[in-house]
Amino acid sequence: MQALVSAFQREFGRAPEGIAEAPGRVNLIGEHVDYNDGLVLPFAIDRSVLCAWAPHDEGVIDAYSADYAEHARIEASVTEQSKGSAWAPYVRGVVTALTDAGHPPSGADIAIAGDVPQGAGLSSSAALEVAVAGAFRDAFGLPLDDVALAQLSQRAENEFVGVQCGIMDQFASALSRRDHALLIDCRTLAYQHIPLRLEASGLAVVVANSAASRTLAGSAYNERRRDCDAAVALLRERLGRDDLHSLRDVSIAEIIDLDVAWTPPLRRARHVVTEIARVAAAVEALAADDFAGFGALMQESHLSLRDDYEVSSRELDLLVGLATAQEYVLGARLTGAGFGGCTVNLVRADRIDAFERDVIAPYRERTGLPAEMYVTAPHDGLRTWRV
Ligand code: GLA
Repeated sequence: MQALVSAFQREFGRAPEGIAEAPGRVNLIGEHVDYNDGLVLPFAIDRSVLCAWAPHDEGVIDAYSADYAEHARIEASVTEQSKGSAWAPYVRGVVTALTDAGHPPSGADIAIAGDVPQGAGLSSSAALEVAVAGAFRDAFGLPLDDVALAQLSQRAENEFVGVQCGIMDQFASALSRRDHALLIDCRTLAYQHIPLRLEASGLAVVVANSAASRTLAGSAYNERRRDCDAAVALLRERLGRDDLHSLRDVSIAEIIDLDVAWTPPLRRARHVVTEIARVAAAVEALAADDFAGFGALMQESHLSLRDDYEVSSRELDLLVGLATAQEYVLGARLTGAGFGGCTVNLVRADRIDAFERDVIAPYRERTGLPAEMYVTAPHDGLRTWRV
């Protein structure tokens, strides 16, 4: 944090007035269901994006990225994206979303720095959006609660960055709580902090980064969303249910018993409906400290994502396969959008070194990719303070 304060001072010739910090996330279970009105269970990790701020009255945002050593000038009235910049479009997206919501940020200097690995599926972009939105909320005293902040950050990504993501990542970044997983009902946006007694149970969450490129992620993601829309239309007709508006409205019995050719849209639907049920079961398992049951649900989730939703990859399957072969791993699955990125693993805490030896090292050897692991635990979501 001190480095960011110094960078702010150097670049803008004055001290910041406040800082907002928003974390990345890992999702324990509930994948590709947020945009189907489903249930998800992420938590915030100990990697975050910091945004230092001080307002001025020149009507523009002067933004500086310490990680890229790059400046961008962002005017609320200019909607075109900052081409060629890896980070400025996100800031611009937040400025535009705030303006559209009736809260145009008048003017400020902001400086940004972060340590969420990028392109790894740990929501570095949501962390950036929520940190910037949190900074503007404080800088201009905006009347927005954390849920509104998450929604606005999602709009920034949907409309101005172009990825049709659901609400999970921004919501987790804004509202997570230390030592708890965050159960979000993406239909109502009701949420609950679910105690995650990892330490007391001798367990740890290990994130394994496959280091495989996620180049397909954007286009295939939007394609899966279209498949889900098609499935809703098909199931409405097939089940004769006019009250069916999203895959959340379909029961397990209705989908499992269908006597159909399992075309891609219907397989996507089968994943979504069973995955939502798995999240509900996972929450019950946590309430009973039944981590073996929880791990088994993670396993089923991965298979469903691999076979029905088709968002896994050779690398992710290899990581999950190596992990599940170890008796000290209770569960392993891909986390986030898929196509590369990370897996999440529930591991006995006293065997973390073995995980490096049995899973990460052989993976590196077989793929030639520089995989890494991070041990993490639930952290607080967005935090803001004055300096
Ligand atoms: C990405 C999106 C989320 C969610 C996940 C898959 O992380 O940003 O909204 O859809 O993929 O669960």
